[in-house]
Amino acid sequence: MNVQLSILETELDGQKGINFYLIYERAVIATGRIAYPYEKSAYLREGFVKEKYRGRGLWKYLYEVRCQWIKNNCPIKSIKLFVSKDNPMKAVYERYGFETYKIDGKISKTEDGHLWMRKKLK
Ligand SMILES: CC(C)(COP(=O)(O)OP(=O)(O)OC[C@H]1O[C@@H](n2cnc3c(N)ncnc32)[C@H](O)[C@@H]1OP(=O)(O)O)[C@@H](O)C(=O)NCCC(=O)NCCS
Repeated sequence: MNVQLSILETELDGQKGINFYLIYERAVIATGRIAYPYEKSAYLREGFVKEKYRGRGLWKYLYEVRCQWIKNNCPIKSIKLFVSKDNPMKAVYERYGFETYKIDGKISKTEDGHLWMRKKLK
């Protein structure tokens, strides 16, 4: 499968980010974004793989590419993402070294109740 990676720096509603696309036969089949890449708390979001192409390691590839991009370009030591507590991907993120964390004794969550998870970069 000859998949092409395309990386685009964008700004959406004032939020800077780096968008990663996997392109196959001129169609976007997977995406992922790094939000706030130049601030203290860059995070991974909008991971999506078109249904037909799931289960082949494309998300993992975009995950690794984004981690490498952060290591090469960002002055930060950890990355974050958020996930709903019921999403099966939570267990995957845990396997990849992400942990939920507390601030002022409370589990850190987004305004709409998703769990924040973070991982230190080596
Ligand atoms: C979640 C999603 C991005 C996974 O994409 P994918 O390309 O199929 O994932 P990969 O093949 O790269 O798999 C990466 C890892 O996730 C695991 N995984 C993938 N989908 C999974 C699922 N639905 N449930 C449990 N584990 C899953 C794989 O087993 C693999 O684990 P491993 O590296 O430990 O072996 C894709 O199913 C999707 O776009 N879903 C809809 C959007 C979504 O739920 N995004 C996540 C929101 S936090």
